[in-house]
Amino acid sequence: MHHKVAAFAFCVAAGVAQAADIAGLAATCHSCHGIDGASVGPTMPSIAGQNENYLRHVMIEQKHDQRYSSIMGRLLRTYSDEEIALMARHFAAKPWVPAAVDADMRLVNRGRQVAQKTCQRCHGATGERVAEGTPRLAGQWPGYLVIESMKYTDPTFHRNKPSERMAERVGNLAVEDVQAVAHFLGTRK
Ligand code: HEC
Ligand code: HEC
Repeated sequence: MHHKVAAFAFCVAAGVAQAADIAGLAATCHSCHGIDGASVGPTMPSIAGQNENYLRHVMIEQKHDQRYSSIMGRLLRTYSDEEIALMARHFAAKPWVPAAVDADMRLVNRGRQVAQKTCQRCHGATGERVAEGTPRLAGQWPGYLVIESMKYTDPTFHRNKPSERMAERVGNLAVEDVQAVAHFLGTRK
């Protein structure tokens, strides 16, 4: 009986500490990713409401230099894998806020065709589908989607390309098609 009470008290204390820690950890992300992970800049990804599995594995790969990053890899080296998992859960639980981008119908129409032909199978018709390891793309900032997709299309972009499946499909797209499909997906809600 005493054991149970002690164990319970310990869990509550650990839970409180974890909640305080995660707020502190997550506060360092707001300057770039926006308040609670809802980005306000065209090349900065929103992480609020993103697939938890995706957030976690991306950050672990960035930390270990297995995925291209300009900033995140260095930043994450000071976090343990457990802290990264907590942050992934924290941000995944926040509401998704679609990017505030005005739709250009010419780009939207071209992008829709590219998406139907090349992305729909895995990401859904509007980038809304989230499978185990795939991110939500609908409403993500188009500038960021372009940068990420260029990893796969530009052979001079010598960086880690973590997804073989993406490379097969996206690798042959023209730059104009990448821009159009990013605009189409990013202006979905
Ligand atoms: C100084 C700016 C900056 C800070 C601070 C920052 N990030 Fe980032 N983040 C970026 C940039 C830029 C990218 C795009 C990858 C890169 O080039 O590093 C990114 C990408 C990401 C991604 C990948 C998202 C995707 O959809 O692929 C995740 C997840 C992420 N950051 C989480 C975090 C978390 C959690 C924190 C707080 C611990 C944080 N970031 C702090 C700039 C920042
Ligand atoms: C055969 C399945 C498949 C197809 C088709 C596909 N993707 Fe992906 N996509 C994935 C997977 C799996 C991931 C997660 C990759 C990872 O985490 O390493 C991903 C991730 C992404 C990312 C996040 C960046 C990254 O490198 O993880 C973007 C952006 C993206 N896809 C855009 C697209 C676009 C745009 C199209 C169509 C032009 C497309 N994808 C077609 C499977 C696919």
